[in-house]
Amino acid sequence: MSQPIVIAVDGTAASGKGTLAKKLAKHFGFPHLDSGALYRLTALAVLEAGGNPANAADAVKAAKTIDFTRAADPAIRTDAVGAAASKVAAVAGVRAALFDFQRDFVERPPGGATGAVVDGRDIGTVICPDATAKLFVDAAPAVRAHRRWLELKGMGIERDERALEAELVARDAQDRARAVSPLKQAADAALLDTSNLGIDAAFAAALALVEPKVRGQLEAKPRG
Ligand code: CDP
Repeated sequence: MSQPIVIAVDGTAASGKGTLAKKLAKHFGFPHLDSGALYRLTALAVLEAGGNPANAADAVKAAKTIDFTRAADPAIRTDAVGAAASKVAAVAGVRAALFDFQRDFVERPPGGATGAVVDGRDIGTVICPDATAKLFVDAAPAVRAHRRWLELKGMGIERDERALEAELVARDAQDRARAVSPLKQAADAALLDTSNLGIDAAFAAALALVEPKVRGQLEAKPRG
């Protein structure tokens, strides 16, 4: 059997990587894994249990018991859970507990698909260093804050846009500074700055970067 195709989409908070990853998945007919949901579910579990997200024991215990069927729960999408997710994500034991789930997803994509799309912070660097195609998505902080403001407004949550921007910047700084699996562009990832691109233009740009790599793997002689 040839290796599954893996499209790794990493990037900063609210950069649009999730939207792009979903659209790429739909285009190629692959399942999509939002790895951030794993950290958000872990954070929510810690908060619901009355624990401290920065406490390694609390965070690891939560990571081992998360219920992935709750990934669509809007409760994990709040900025408070996002901030707590960034805290649990810095705990090495949490990342170790979530590693196998992510590797299984790309090695045996659900539904017998021939590939998978995963978005996150360390997909191209740590989870799938051999990914077929790697994108690193970024945008100016003010643009990202506006997108997140609109997203939260759509969920009925009113936030101050400047305060959101400060939170996103602080979370990125925390994600970049951590010792384990920090947020960073893989050496072989293509940078996609979506500051001046709407969804359709960003998707067209992403596809132009990813499609040749996918074609290259499909045309290569199957290994083994
Ligand atoms: O949607 P947004 O970009 O705000 O965040 P997310 O992708 O849902 O991730 C929430 C937090 O989880 C991030 O700030 C990271 O600290 C952490 N995370 C991570 O460490 N590694 C991943 N592969 C995905 C998320």
